[in-house]
This record gives sequence, C-alpha cells and structure tokens, in this order.
Amino acid sequence: MSAPRKLFVKTYGCQMNVYDSERMTEALGTEGYVATDRPEDADMILLNTCHIREKAAEKVYSELGRMKALKEVNPNLKIGVAGCVAQAEGAEIMRRAPVVDLVVGPQSYHRLPAMDRAVQGGAKALDTDFPEDDKFDTLRARPKTHRAPAAFLTVQEGCDKFCAFCVVPYTRGAEVSRPADRVLHEARDLVDAGVAEITLLGQNVNAYHGHERGLAGLIWDLAEIDGLKRIRFTTSHPNDMDDALIDAHGTCEKLMPYLHLPVQSGSDRILKAMNRKHTAGSYLKLVDRIRAARPDLMLSSDFIVGFPGETEADFEATLDLIRTVEFGQAYSFKYSTRPGTPAAEKPQLPEDVMVDRLARLQTLLTQQQHKVQDDMVGRTVGVLFEKPGRIAGQMIGKSDYLHAVYADAPSDVLGQVRAVRITTAGPNSLGGVLVP
Ligand code: 5AD
Ligand code: SF4
Repeated sequence: MSAPRKLFVKTYGCQMNVYDSERMTEALGTEGYVATDRPEDADMILLNTCHIREKAAEKVYSELGRMKALKEVNPNLKIGVAGCVAQAEGAEIMRRAPVVDLVVGPQSYHRLPAMDRAVQGGAKALDTDFPEDDKFDTLRARPKTHRAPAAFLTVQEGCDKFCAFCVVPYTRGAEVSRPADRVLHEARDLVDAGVAEITLLGQNVNAYHGHERGLAGLIWDLAEIDGLKRIRFTTSHPNDMDDALIDAHGTCEKLMPYLHLPVQSGSDRILKAMNRKHTAGSYLKLVDRIRAARPDLMLSSDFIVGFPGETEADFEATLDLIRTVEFGQAYSFKYSTRPGTPAAEKPQLPEDVMVDRLARLQTLLTQQQHKVQDDMVGRTVGVLFEKPGRIAGQMIGKSDYLHAVYADAPSDVLGQVRAVRITTAGPNSLGGVLVP
C-alpha cells in the first residue's frame, strides 16, 4: 500500500472556517490524505481564507508568496485556496499567484476529491459555484474517532441582512439552514465521539429556520441528548432574538450563560447608515429582556469604529452604549473598505482618527472585561476541562461564561464539567480550585 498523502490546512478568520477546515480534511480523507501540521511535509496545502477585512485578505497573498519556496523543493506539492477569498476573487487568485493549483469556495468543498484528481493530472481546478446539491448532503459521514470535548457544528450559513460594510452576503450567499434532523444526527455522533459541548455556528445563527420552532426548538431538541452537557451558539443578530430564544436562556440548563450579540455602533445615525435595522435604544431594551431571563448572562459584542461619516459625537454614543451594557468580552475593528459593498462608495475617515478611536474604545472594553473577570473571584462556576496545562498537575478548561480557567486537577477531569471555585483573575484567564 502506498504511504498516505499529507494535507496541511491553515485556517484564517471565524469559527465557521475552523469547522469547514475539519470537514475539508475529512473530505480529502477519501482521497487518502491524512492531516499534518508541518507544511514542509505536505503533498497538499489548503489555505482556508477570510475576506471580512482587507488585512485578512492580504495575508493570504503574502502566505502564497512564501509557498513558492516550498513548491521549488517539492514540485509535486499542490496548493489550494478555499474559503471567502476564494469565493470573492475566484480565478483572479490564480492570475495573481500562479503557484495556486486549486480554488474552492465555501459552498463547493464537497467537490474537493474530484478537484484533487484534476490537479494531480496537472490541471488547475476552480469551483466557486453556489451549487444545487447541498455540500452537507454529499459529504461522507464524519469519522467516529475520539474528539476533543468541545466542538463546532455549523447549522446555518449565509446572510440576508446586507449591512452596508459587510462582504458576507456576497461571499457566503443567502441564508440557508440545515434541517434539524441532520444537525441532531451529527450532534449525536459528536457526543458518541466524546464531545460534551457543542457550539452551533452560523453567520446569522439565530435566523435558523431548519426547525419549525427556530433555533430555540433546535436547542431544546439538542438538550435531550444524553452526554451533551453544554450548548452555545454564535453569531447572532439582535433582530433575530425571538421570545423563545430569550426564554431558553432562562430555562434551558444546558444553554450556557454567554451571548455574542454584535451591535457595531451606539449611534442611531451610523446604525442607519450601516443598514443594521435596529437602534441603540432597541438594542439596550433587548439586552434588558435577555438579562431579565438570565441575570448572570455574559454579553459579548462586535464594534466597528470609523465607519464613513462617523463623527466624534457618534463615536461618543458608542462609548455610552458600552458603559450602559458592560460587556464581558468584545471584538473591535477599524472600518475596512470592502469592494462591492455599499459603504465602499462613501468617503473614508482619516486613518489617524480611526486609530485613535479604536484605542479609546479598546481601553474601555478592556476595563470592563477585567472588571467582569475580577468579579468572578470567589464564585463557583462549571468548567469543562479540555487539556492539560503547561505546569504539571494543572488542567485547563472553559467556564460556563467562556473564560479560560486553570486548576490543579487529576487528568480524569478531562472531558468533564466540574465545579471550580475561582481564586485568581489574570488578564486572559482565571485560576481556581476544584470543589470536592
Ligand atoms: N470592516 C471592519 N469590520 C468589519 N466587520 C465586518 N465587516 C467589516 C468591515 N468592512 C466586523 C463586524 C462583524 C465582524 C465579524 O467583523 O463587526 O460583526
Ligand atoms: Fe455581515 Fe451584517 Fe450579515 Fe453580520 S448581519 S454577516 S455583519 S451582513
């Protein structure tokens, strides 16, 4: 038997790409590929790319520049570009980077085995269709090998919201939901393989309509699975937080008290220009309703500073919203012009203004994050232990609120949710002791 071929996948961007990279590796498994973490050993390298901001997209081209040297050493090496840059730029990638053999969009990666055969024959392969055949129907069943305790599961893809700054509706297409029975089947298989926590993924996950009772209906069905201890979901749009989902945060024990709910800005004028279809006031009301259902819920959000037309007063309104909500976690970005989006037509703000606002925003968000972490000290929280720490005898896991937690513990806690009393708070993690 010939030795297995080796596949190196590098993942950029969001958690959906992490999930897709796993599925692409499994799909190429049918062609005899096994994963390697050393690009220099690989027979195929796949870059699973992100197009959300300019920097993310440009990273791909610098990485491809470096790949040229690997191809000189191993002329049989095949190089592929997958993900959102593949979708957005298609054949242009091969023109700009002739080292690339294969370009595959996020909706076509079930066709990778056939594309691999084509490139092995010396051809170039390109597939950025939004095909009729659903990739999830065509991909083979997931291998039953033992898995890490926390897993991602994509249930929804695409977006119909068309925020004025965002490429996702163009790169990932219209909102599509996977049928609940398929999701439940995959979830049961994951639990059989040792998974205790599932994070449901979607660009607009709470617009999920693959279950007659929406995302909340799916969550309640998942909660019935024995052995599944925790459920999370991300990313949500404020306008899709329906009553059933808010209620589930208060009543479904397996649904964790953490919600990523991007607001982007606290200025109604900018929110309108962004085509967000909600106001700062409606967001704050929504937060009140969710917190009424689950008072200890930890909120996380995304912010963009320097959207075209943002004044100092608009930016101050964003700071005010942050002061009102108190976020436990946040992701913030300078506005980045994306070709083809409506906002790209508008005059841009000077770079120094954006840099200054981002620094002020992040200072406030970091203060809030540290306060939330400090407030954890003395509390007892559930921790799902995922791996050993670097110090002997120490195990690392994630709390109910998604904080990284270190504790001295025997290795048999791995894969279990255990009660931990938090004793220390560092900048990026918490320390604690097992509660007997
Ligand atoms: N510029 C800056 N940030 C962006 N995001 C999306 N598009 C852009 C852009 N053009 C941010 C939003 C979104 C997150 C995933 O990325 O905050 O919620
Ligand atoms: Fe992009 Fe807006 Fe859709 Fe989120 S809701 S993916 S920011 S268009």
